[in-house]
Amino acid sequence: MAENVIPYDAPTEIKELEIVNVYELEKEAEKIVPKGGYDYISGASGDEYTKKQNIESFNHRNIVPRVMADVENPDTSTSILGTDIKAPFIMAPIAAHGLAHETKEAGTARGVSEFGTIMSISAYSGASFKEIEEGLNGSPRWFQLYMSKDDGLNKDIVDEAIADGATAIILTADATLSGNREKDVRNKFVYPFGMPIVSRYLTGTGKNMSLNNIYAQSKQKISPRDVDFLASYSGLPVFVKGIQSPDDANIAIGAGASGIWVSNHGGRQLDGAPGSFDTLPGIAEAVQKRVPIVFDSGIRRGEHVFKAIASGADVVAIGRPALYGLALGGWKGVKSVFDYFHQDLIRVMQLSGTQTVEDIKNTRLFENPWG
Ligand code: GLV
Repeated sequence: MAENVIPYDAPTEIKELEIVNVYELEKEAEKIVPKGGYDYISGASGDEYTKKQNIESFNHRNIVPRVMADVENPDTSTSILGTDIKAPFIMAPIAAHGLAHETKEAGTARGVSEFGTIMSISAYSGASFKEIEEGLNGSPRWFQLYMSKDDGLNKDIVDEAIADGATAIILTADATLSGNREKDVRNKFVYPFGMPIVSRYLTGTGKNMSLNNIYAQSKQKISPRDVDFLASYSGLPVFVKGIQSPDDANIAIGAGASGIWVSNHGGRQLDGAPGSFDTLPGIAEAVQKRVPIVFDSGIRRGEHVFKAIASGADVVAIGRPALYGLALGGWKGVKSVFDYFHQDLIRVMQLSGTQTVEDIKNTRLFENPWG
């Protein structure tokens, strides 16, 4: 299929956002992000059934109000793998932030760092480690890897991530080819800029290439051996991302994973998969607190953060809402999104009688029989 080479004018504004809810941010972002980029960010696969289920599934378990709990000024702070964070949410790894804003990943990194949580740097970033550091300014970061077929190149990339200061590796295992993203097919979507971290294993820089072309040049045959290889080579904790089944969680831990990342890639991969939240309790039961769990896919409200943590996640990751914040307000917009989730979570904690994140973990949700 011919590739569509058009100039790409990403938004440039930097401002704080007044956020009522993040669903509205998506509508606002649609007005200013070029169509190909907006469809790529917001789109999912097939009927987008799984993307919708990701949000719908949070209704399957409810939070019981507690009114005799003696709670005031709930404390959202927590830590994961030894890193203290202001609230139990971090930035999810997402490719190509330059589609949302001209400051690319450096803009997101600054918003995340000024808020006080962990930035996940994607291997498919449109910015280099050095450029991202300008926004991160020494703040904690994890590195998400799409592996090369060549382990020598994987070692080089991991070496760079370690030199950059990454304290964990996230192995994305659910995206060995692109889901059926019909909007991208219709738009003939190609990235308008290169991907400096992985360009060493691509036939080009990444610029003017489709996601499927890039995935095809990344490693497709992911197995427990890769988890073992990354853990032993890097010496860093390795999260396996894209886990939706208790069996895969057990296999990943058996292969040396130090963390399980429950995710269905925001509904962008296998359409027809369950809402990610519906898979979490079973996975948490299998994991039995042997390693931490990160959860993503569908977090849009403080209630969702709360429910995920009460269902076994240690922290959750925020994806698309942060990119809409980036589009609308650059780094200040990203910080506004994280501030919104923080305030929303504090409200939910107060109303549910939970003083600390540990209290959320000990909360039993109400199984909604009509959900
Ligand atoms: C890349 O990770 C994507 O989902 O587009």
